[in-house]
Amino acid sequence: MKARVEKLFRLADPKPDAIVLANAVDPHLDGAFFWLFDVPSGLFEGSFAVAHSDGELDVWSSVLEADTARAAAKRDPHVRIHEFRAPSDLDEELRKQLTGTTTIGLHYAEITHATFERITKALPGASWTDVSAPVRKARVTKDAIEIERLEKAAEIGSKVAKEIPGMLENGMVELSLATEMNYRMMHHGASGPSFSTIVGFGPNSAEPHYFAGDRKLRSGDSIVCDFGAYYERYASDITRSFHFGKRDEELKAVHDKVEEAQHAALALIRPGVAAKELHLAAQRVIDASPWKGRFTHGLGHSIGLRVHDGWGMNDRSEDLLEEGMVITVEPGIYLPGHGGVRIEDDVLVTKTGYRFLTTAPRGYREVAA
Ligand code: GLY
Ligand code: MN
Repeated sequence: MKARVEKLFRLADPKPDAIVLANAVDPHLDGAFFWLFDVPSGLFEGSFAVAHSDGELDVWSSVLEADTARAAAKRDPHVRIHEFRAPSDLDEELRKQLTGTTTIGLHYAEITHATFERITKALPGASWTDVSAPVRKARVTKDAIEIERLEKAAEIGSKVAKEIPGMLENGMVELSLATEMNYRMMHHGASGPSFSTIVGFGPNSAEPHYFAGDRKLRSGDSIVCDFGAYYERYASDITRSFHFGKRDEELKAVHDKVEEAQHAALALIRPGVAAKELHLAAQRVIDASPWKGRFTHGLGHSIGLRVHDGWGMNDRSEDLLEEGMVITVEPGIYLPGHGGVRIEDDVLVTKTGYRFLTTAPRGYREVAA
């Protein structure tokens, strides 16, 4: 997309003459390739692109997704599609395209070491510059198309979050709930989950990055469901916590405290505010409670083509919020061996504050066993 290619070149310092983005094999696909070449589906393993400072983009696609690539290029007059037959074509194609080009940008953050070595060997006369910092900066503020897709991905997550209470059954295992959630996301229009769906019952809900397993749901359990949808390559990330059956007064109080911490952070959101101030605001609320020290991770992260896309928000974050950023705000309290609560929303930073992209209810919810 011309505007995105130009944005990247504007931010690059030093300015390369061209930028090469090269995919290896899934999951080693470069997010910047899909940011510059706006193509809604297709794997594009082994594909590569050359971005030019005038906004034009040359893309090499394999036959496996050539029709999709050509359809995308029809919508974008600044993209030229070429077909490659085998991954070994990359060296020759780049030599044809770039011999004589002095300075070439590469996305060190996402290119594999093997591809880096091949490309630099194929063009021995060039000098190389890392464009990771400008790519990150360019991608963290979203344009209107990106916001629309992120909103749609978030809407799918919210729909499923609202349906979770109706899916809970005494004795079901975490994997059954995760399977049903993944099914519902696709049923509501997702191309798939944006990461491995986290469902933790009881003590498992106290581990933030637990994967769903075979723990059975029992009365008295807290439940953490952290999941997200991909919609036209853009991700959502939402966490809702529930309580099943017999009331646990401590877990109820924990839920209220996590909500309060989330409010404290959200209240600060506007352009120019340091991301770490949001984290510290949530941490202060939790550390002033009986659960001091039980908020054990960063408050959130920027989200886009990947669920963790750009930067993370913690007490050391250097980033300032800007209009057009989309971030998660996800405080949690974890009581090992007992249970946990996390509440996570995706929000768009606006000119004067923020707008929720995820909208499912956040309050304490007890589901009868
Ligand atoms: N949704 C998982 C995480 O943000 O770490
Ligand atoms: Mn998250």
